[in-house]
Amino acid sequence: MTTSITLLWTLYELARHPDLQEELRAEVAVARQSTQGDMLQMLKMIPLVKGALKETLRLHPVAVSLQRYITEEIVIQNYHIPSGTLVQLGLYAMGRDPGVFPRPEKYLPSRWLRTESQYFRSLGFGFGPRQCLGRRIAETEMQLFLIHMLENFRVDKQRQVEVHSTFELILLPEKPILLTLTPLHSSR
Ligand code: HEM
Repeated sequence: MTTSITLLWTLYELARHPDLQEELRAEVAVARQSTQGDMLQMLKMIPLVKGALKETLRLHPVAVSLQRYITEEIVIQNYHIPSGTLVQLGLYAMGRDPGVFPRPEKYLPSRWLRTESQYFRSLGFGFGPRQCLGRRIAETEMQLFLIHMLENFRVDKQRQVEVHSTFELILLPEKPILLTLTPLHSSR
């Protein structure tokens, strides 16, 4: 569910940004060519595809917030937080805050390529010892899916239709995301 929704949002964003979709397709094609299809190596050569997944989780996080009980009292930015307090980190709000992400409304996978300024900003899977246990498998699965989709289909959407999020314990698309997949190679 979490991975399928994240992939659906990613395809939606790529359908909205055809030039970006071509850029990602080109990155995958170069990766396939230079590794002769060695998938393990390919996965190391697709920074923009990985950036797209981070960008999707920034704008469309599955978890609207992260929670932690504070075990020792602490002062954060002049707030005194006593031990035992439940602290919520607003992931959705943070992802759309211009103070954290310049021009937050733009879907820009390349913003994740500048690693030095990104420390502790990709929080879609949580953080620390209690971060998402399925993170690595989810990331790899989604990267493989996108590689195959980009290599085989062009993804389009209806022009005027915009989809927003709704809260159902996790964040979900408020209505079905309708996409058109056109095969890039005619079947033999
Ligand atoms: C796009 C896919 C996914 C996203 C965005 C996601 C996100 C998250 C988040 C935000 C948390 C809370 C982390 C924290 O509080 O720091 C979490 C916890 C967890 N996730 Fe995921 N998840 C995804 C897929 C998966 C998959 C595929 C599995 C299982 C194979 C999984 C298993 C878990 C488990 C077991 C926890 C609880 C970890 C703990 O409390 O120690 N997740 N996930």
